[in-house]
Amino acid sequence: MDSTWPHHGSSTTGSEIHPIQYLDWYIPRLQQMRKYNLSYSGLQYVWDFETLLAQDLSDVGYHHIPNFPNSEQIIAERYGVKSENIAITHGATQALNIALLACIESSPNNENSIVAVESPAYAPVVQTPLLLNCDTIPVQRHPPAEGFGPWRINKSEWLDALQKSKVLMITPQLNPCGWDYESSDRQWIIDTCKDLGITIISDEVYIDSMKGTDDYKPFHLEGDHCISVNSLTKIYGLGPLRFGWIIANKDITLNAKRAFLTLSGMMASPTIRLANAVFPHLDLAIEKIKQYREINLPVLREMLARQNIAWNEPPYGVFGAFKLPNDFDSMKFVDGACAANSVLAVPGSMFAPELSSWLRVAWSIEPELFAEAILHLEKALISIQ
Ligand SMILES: Cc1ncc(COP(=O)(O)O)c(C=O)c1O
Repeated sequence: MDSTWPHHGSSTTGSEIHPIQYLDWYIPRLQQMRKYNLSYSGLQYVWDFETLLAQDLSDVGYHHIPNFPNSEQIIAERYGVKSENIAITHGATQALNIALLACIESSPNNENSIVAVESPAYAPVVQTPLLLNCDTIPVQRHPPAEGFGPWRINKSEWLDALQKSKVLMITPQLNPCGWDYESSDRQWIIDTCKDLGITIISDEVYIDSMKGTDDYKPFHLEGDHCISVNSLTKIYGLGPLRFGWIIANKDITLNAKRAFLTLSGMMASPTIRLANAVFPHLDLAIEKIKQYREINLPVLREMLARQNIAWNEPPYGVFGAFKLPNDFDSMKFVDGACAANSVLAVPGSMFAPELSSWLRVAWSIEPELFAEAILHLEKALISIQ
């Protein structure tokens, strides 16, 4: 595998469509069924669908329209907006495609639009614009110089990129470090994009772990130029359902609904039924994340301290990242020492070339297994010191 990080550049179609190297790398490793899986960026949570769906279970494959609660209304209630501001999609990945289609205007002389995309990133955030006749330029979030606290932006670098761009795509709670923006960086991004007439597409699949706290700030609340994208995948542990949504102003939402119907026709009936059944109970998953943080994080913290590895712990969510000793290559580490100890974690090079010695670890699994997994990760770390 040559480069594993997301590809930036010019619009591509047909045989020039870039692979999503992250998933090409990750899916075969998941299939190895390593015993200690610290790679899940989403909560591992068992929903009791038999109880939640009750008698509806036998109907999952059938039409969901008659007498069925409206998903957009259900989402709107949870997020305190109107249903005219919600468009549903098959997961956040599709929501990124649909959001971009919904806000990008064709240019008069058919030039490709430029989209600034934050790096590091989940590859589809970067490569979606390339499929939709746009070119991308990266804007970086850097580890803090002092080693602790939020990852930071360089405003002059961002301004330079934003002045050329029509859209900015970001992931506030950043993958792989788990940190949200420093508050003045966040405000600067919102204000600068507003002044320059740029739409922000904010991938918020990780921010609901902050829901209920003062730090919970979805971008759709920041004005008509901001679109929030979210799904049931990460915080709610339901990736296989492929249920996501966009929250945006009324006009963009209407465009998004038209784009969704064009690309997907209707939402899958099983997806709608299962999502509607689980929505009233979503806070259970957020509670579970709090519990896992309380029990699992001290175990990780202590192990990293024993190994003299600096740890910049994000205040929310289920994953964080650290630099391996002696700048060891984390891809080699995961496929060598980790595999030998049946541990799976995610190399930083999946998200940005600069992160090739960083390792993402998640505390999204139940505590007994997590504690064992950390001991095995420690053995792997000792073997490369
Ligand atoms: C930032 C980000 N957005 C979206 C996704 C995937 O979301 P979904 O499963 O809802 O498409 C991921 C998965 O790793 C991610 O890291």
